[in-house]
Amino acid sequence: MSDRTLQAIKFSKENVTLDILDQLQLPYSTVFIPIKSIQDAFDAIKSMQVRGAPAIAIVGAFAITVDTFNNLKAGISKSVSELLQSIDYLVTSRPTAVNLSNACEEIKSLINEKFELQLIVDQEVYEVLFEYSVALHEDDLANNYKIGSNGLNYIIETLRAQQFTGPFSIMTVCNTGSLATSGHGTALGIIRTVHEQLSKLKTKESFWFETAYPLETRPYNQGAKLTTYELQYENIPFTMICDNMVTSLISTLRKGEKVKDVCAPVKFIIAGADRVVKNGDSANKIGTFQLAAIANYFNTTSASEKEHIKFIIAAPNTTIDRQTPCGDQIVIEERPSNELTTLKGPVLTSDGSVGEKMTVGVATPGIQVWNPAFDVAPHQLIDCIVTEERAIEKINNEFTL
Ligand code: MRU
Repeated sequence: MSDRTLQAIKFSKENVTLDILDQLQLPYSTVFIPIKSIQDAFDAIKSMQVRGAPAIAIVGAFAITVDTFNNLKAGISKSVSELLQSIDYLVTSRPTAVNLSNACEEIKSLINEKFELQLIVDQEVYEVLFEYSVALHEDDLANNYKIGSNGLNYIIETLRAQQFTGPFSIMTVCNTGSLATSGHGTALGIIRTVHEQLSKLKTKESFWFETAYPLETRPYNQGAKLTTYELQYENIPFTMICDNMVTSLISTLRKGEKVKDVCAPVKFIIAGADRVVKNGDSANKIGTFQLAAIANYFNTTSASEKEHIKFIIAAPNTTIDRQTPCGDQIVIEERPSNELTTLKGPVLTSDGSVGEKMTVGVATPGIQVWNPAFDVAPHQLIDCIVTEERAIEKINNEFTL
């Protein structure tokens, strides 16, 4: 497919237009949809045409800019208080990821500070919005590369300290790559950087990165549909597993047995985050807490430090919520039950072409279902939080964020 891309957000500075890659159609079709208003962004975020904490914040900020530009161009006069209200409305599209509400709060503060006595949105308000959203997008990309290199250094230092030699593998959950951000990604960004620097042919160390294990990530399959798409796009070796195969995979590799012709123990589990609170508790895709608990189990039952698995959260500063003291206070979004009871996708014909989209049932119709989109990995189970500033480890079992 020649039109494949990893760029999920396209903003034209010249024309002030925003187009997003419809992630509901990946990996089968590459379709961009225009976002012309705050309402369009609300709908796209809620329906998960764009998802991932940094990406929804960037799309939200650009949508506020585009909405304002389009109104001014059409001669539609909007009051400052109306604009502030529609920004509050946008935040309600998805409640758990803090990036969108952080960005919207910053935009509101800028408007309130600079245009305190102003009633009507004008060109100057638009210019402030433009500058903010462009900077948010550009900074996110630069920060993701820094997360990649801080993560790489943490991995190198850990393996050296453990005197580990030979091949190792990395597990990850959900999609935290280019599609979830402005580019490169956070947890997947670290895997990208590690693959670039520590593959067998490139490494200067006595260890090398052999493969990644992306989890399928039920019920929405971000791992199966998006992370594998990104890994394949960049020729990073990987084998996908279901969420419930994690313990089997780790023990099989630990026994020295091969999985699909490869035996490289899982040394790192790297997840992204939707909200990291003051004490380090981290909300991320449902199943992340489970992964941290599994790493902990294997560490407490391992023969030596050399076998330890480090559980890493990779997140930019825009994902850190210092106002919330601990994870119990994080609002967890509950998604509709049909995301669990049905599967959606195109019909794949025997000649490999992509047919009509359809929905198939995978559960007894009409049953009660609980579908929380995220869980909270407690800080006790997290070894390191990698941001664009540094790799933060606990001191006396506490994170200082
Ligand atoms: O429901 P999603 O697909 O928006 O969930 C995404 C995640 O949980 C990601 O891990 C998180 O947003 C970080 S993306 C860099």
